[in-house]
Amino acid sequence: MKVLIATEKPFAKVAVDGIREVVEKNGYELALLEKYTDVNQFYDAVADADALIVRSDKVTKEVIDHAKNLKIVVRAGAGFDNLDLAACTARNIVAMNTPGQNSNAVAELVMGMLVYAVRNFYNGKSGSELKGKKLGLLAYGNVGRNVARIAKGFGMDIYAFDEFLTKEMIEADGVAHAVANRDALFETCDIVSLHIPATPETKQSINYAVVNKLHKNGILINTARKEVINEPELLKLMADRTDLKYITDIMPDANDEFAKLEGRYFATPKKMGAQTEEANINAGIAAANQIADFFKTGNKRFQVNK
Ligand code: 3PG
Repeated sequence: MKVLIATEKPFAKVAVDGIREVVEKNGYELALLEKYTDVNQFYDAVADADALIVRSDKVTKEVIDHAKNLKIVVRAGAGFDNLDLAACTARNIVAMNTPGQNSNAVAELVMGMLVYAVRNFYNGKSGSELKGKKLGLLAYGNVGRNVARIAKGFGMDIYAFDEFLTKEMIEADGVAHAVANRDALFETCDIVSLHIPATPETKQSINYAVVNKLHKNGILINTARKEVINEPELLKLMADRTDLKYITDIMPDANDEFAKLEGRYFATPKKMGAQTEEANINAGIAAANQIADFFKTGNKRFQVNK
């Protein structure tokens, strides 16, 4: 039985070592394809794999077509918009994610980027503090909750909206105040942090009208997916509202245009949210254990294509 790790953006070595240990302890063989530059390398590597571990790597129908032995693919992370679920299902391949395993890493990056933004990207000019500011979390899942926990330590006033959670569910841990809808979140807050997945419903949903509801000197922070942003509308808004900042861990398609907004825009060169040793270990080993458990007991707990 062969388990392939195919990661264009590799895990930390310590995580690969941990995955190898789990895979070999269970009597399987590990194959490693890292930093590939051509999709044909992925096609070749996956040809004899029984199981596949990926990060944001695109598992397209073509990849599935080349993977004649594949029975399970695990996205070591939260968002699974990079998996062609229909293609997996058509071949009876189980697709899973590893929810929660990298959420603290993303949440810590959110806070780091926020400090950077309110201190004017460390340009030496007087900035402002996060304490007492109103932080809105759009979606209150694993990442949103971790951001809330840390932001509370900064003395921020935390609000959240999640279309899948009731007010009681959001307020149960006593950290965030629930608001009635997405517009209310933007209207209430100084800073809004996006934690929604990229789905047909959310794509391009963060547009001019929504972001324009932010308070004066508002900040939009995106560590979710670039696809949820309506980039032309956000650019137009930032031209009209010179008080707003946009900071993102996912470089927009229109990066060059945003980069002209000097002092009001920052993007990491490569998505960094889950790029810690701890997150790599958590998500990678969880993926390996889920694969072993699936082969041994048929456990499909984290299946996303059902
Ligand atoms: C996720 O959905 O888990 C994050 O976006 C992390 O993606 P990455 O594994 O490509 O860093």
